[in-house]
Amino acid sequence: MRQPIIAGNWKMNGSLESIRTLVSGLKDGIRDVNSAEMAVCPPAAYLAEVSSLITGTTIALGAQDLSNAASGAYTGEISGDMLNDFNCKYVIVGHSERRNIRGESDELVAEKFKAAQDAGLTPILCVGELLEEREDGITEAVCARQIDAVTDAYGVSVLENSIIAYEPVWAIGTGKTATPEQAQDVHAFIRGHIASQDQSVADGLRIQYGGSMNAGNAAELLAQPDIDGGLIGGASLKADDFLAIGRAAG
Ligand code: 13P
Repeated sequence: MRQPIIAGNWKMNGSLESIRTLVSGLKDGIRDVNSAEMAVCPPAAYLAEVSSLITGTTIALGAQDLSNAASGAYTGEISGDMLNDFNCKYVIVGHSERRNIRGESDELVAEKFKAAQDAGLTPILCVGELLEEREDGITEAVCARQIDAVTDAYGVSVLENSIIAYEPVWAIGTGKTATPEQAQDVHAFIRGHIASQDQSVADGLRIQYGGSMNAGNAAELLAQPDIDGGLIGGASLKADDFLAIGRAAG
């Protein structure tokens, strides 16, 4: 009922040459991915190129960030409408690298979430705890706070056209994956938290896991009942690895 979605967050990696090779590899192998929806989120500078390379394929396009504003004097920023011009379907908001390195607040992330939807894009809202927050036993409280910033401002129904990515910060780029049980526990908490406000929104919501997911550990993570896909960093930069994760989704 919830179609798994495997999305590659390329972060600030690659070159024009390397992304052409990567996309060509993805196009070669995508027909062997059965049930999962596959999406790639290149750096903004390469959106136009990737958009034209994947035209006519089943690969969806996403961006890594957008402005909370619709247009105007915001040097360096990119609006949701601009992302639409390149046929983006998804946009990541609130990635931990933007929250923790660039200092984005829960409120700003909520505004970006809304700006994405206002432009007709589907936001992928990233949530997740730092290592010290897990050790302090406040993982659930942190995830709830990050989700509530959106639903308190705009209502729970906005989650209908969105995806949540649970990405424990301590598992990102560290090779330290959450165990399937650890991940499932938080995914179930997130779904339950939303269900307490709206059961049908919670039932339909796709919740991805992100954090050192790779071809070797994907199947076990994706087999968990509340894990509906993956948001993949490092392993999305190699076509074979990314496609293997897609095939692991069933
Ligand atoms: P890694 O897969 O490299 O750990 O990155 C996960 C991530 O941050 C995806 O958004």
